[in-house]
Amino acid sequence: MRNSEFFLIFIISYSGVIRAIEYNGVSLGEFSESDVEGEVFLVNSTHLQIVNFRTTKTNLPPIPFAFISSNNQKSTPKIYRHFSSQNGEWLSKLVSLSHEQHQIDTRLIVKMTGSAAQWKQFAVVDSNGNTLASVNMNQKPSAPFCCFESEADMGLFGEYGIISDPIEVIDSRTLKIPKFSYKASQTPDGYFFAGAGSEIDQKSGKKAAILRSDQTLNYCPMLKDITDQDIIIRLDQSQTIYDIEWISVFCYKYSHDFGHLDMGLVENEEQVPPYIPDISISEPHVISQNC
Ligand SMILES: *[C@@H]1O[C@H](CO)[C@@H](O)[C@H](O)[C@H]1NC(C)=O
Repeated sequence: MRNSEFFLIFIISYSGVIRAIEYNGVSLGEFSESDVEGEVFLVNSTHLQIVNFRTTKTNLPPIPFAFISSNNQKSTPKIYRHFSSQNGEWLSKLVSLSHEQHQIDTRLIVKMTGSAAQWKQFAVVDSNGNTLASVNMNQKPSAPFCCFESEADMGLFGEYGIISDPIEVIDSRTLKIPKFSYKASQTPDGYFFAGAGSEIDQKSGKKAAILRSDQTLNYCPMLKDITDQDIIIRLDQSQTIYDIEWISVFCYKYSHDFGHLDMGLVENEEQVPPYIPDISISEPHVISQNC
């Protein structure tokens, strides 16, 4: 029995089928009443999220949540519901937590009125304004992490003029690479590439996308020279900053690392905001691989 259990755990972690535990932010605790459940996390100083929200209560207002200050002032926040599909993730504004939605596990993003420091508690309230369940707002919100090195020019460095300033972590899947230069026109292809393990090759990492100024993601190789550009990249859906050990500028065609930086964060030591998708009225478009 013990051996087979061990074997099973080994298979799961070795094959990577099950990903590292999802990162949701700084934990504020749980709603754990019999009719109200959910885990609450601070996203940053202005947002929080409720994971696996569930309630069987019926006497609820359309938005059954409130922030409560130390002098008992209350404010109803704006709520967004998280959706995901094969095409990606998105948020949609919630006008009312309708009856159907009471039953199922739901992930909700909550935009505070003002910011975290003003509020003492976050609560689920009924239509008479009574608190049904609450958590205390007593944790320091996570914030972007800057940076992996302290001196300018100490970011990425490698062949073909690759150089950048120190890399900043904006959220668990988004990195900023300031003042990035790379003579991409002299290489067959070049991608930002993140992964873990001592070898940097096609198997040990995943391509990261470049965030365009219109907030869409570019999955194409870099083929034109880049000089001193601030670049924002989004890690693959299967990765967070806590799962990776390096970021490389990588030639996919020849599985060649042009230069990389060892980095990564330890979740218990440094908590950055979790990645939260954009608000959208519909599912994101299928990502075109045509470049
Ligand atoms: C907090 O996160 C949300 C969702 O990603 C974002 O819209 C908002 O601007 C962030 N707030 C701050 C103060 O960075």
